[in-house]
Amino acid sequence: MTERTLVLIKPDGVARRFVGEILSRVERKGLSITALEMKTADEALAGQHYAEHLGRPFYPGLIEFITSGPLVAAVLEGPRAIAAFRQLAGGTDPVEKAVPGSIRADLALDGQQNLVHGSDSVESAEREIALWFPELARG
Ligand code: CMP
Repeated sequence: MTERTLVLIKPDGVARRFVGEILSRVERKGLSITALEMKTADEALAGQHYAEHLGRPFYPGLIEFITSGPLVAAVLEGPRAIAAFRQLAGGTDPVEKAVPGSIRADLALDGQQNLVHGSDSVESAEREIALWFPELARG
C-alpha cells in the first residue's frame, strides 16, 4: 500500500553536505520525493515536531540542535514508505543500533546529531506533514 512519510535532513546533514548522498539513497531505494524544502525551524515548529519528547533530558539540546541551522524537509511516497525510510536511516544510535549500510551507521557517530528523521507511524507522518507542509495536510 502506498504511504507517505515526513523526512528531515537535520542541520548536521546539511552542514556536512550530505543532502545529495541522502536523497540519492532515497531514490535508489525506489521512494518518490513528492515535496522538498530547505528551511530553518523556529522553536515553535521544533517544539511541535518533537512534542512527544517534551520532558526528556535530551529535549532542550534537541530543540537547540534542530533550530541551529538550515535543514531539508521532505515528503516521500511509496509502498511501505514509513518502514522503508526507517530502514534506510538505521536506528537512532548510529553506533549501537543502526545496522551497517544505513545512513546513520555509515555516516554518523552521535545519538542526537544523527543526520535524519523519519516518521514512525501513519499517524505521526500525517501530523508531521501537516506541520512542515500545511498545504499537503489531509482531513
Ligand atoms: P529522531 O528520529 O529525530 O527522533 C528524536 C530525536 O531525538 C532523535 O532522532 C535524536 O536526534 C534525538 N535523541 C533521541 N534519543 C536521544 C538521546 N538519548 N540523546 C540525545 N538525543 C537523542
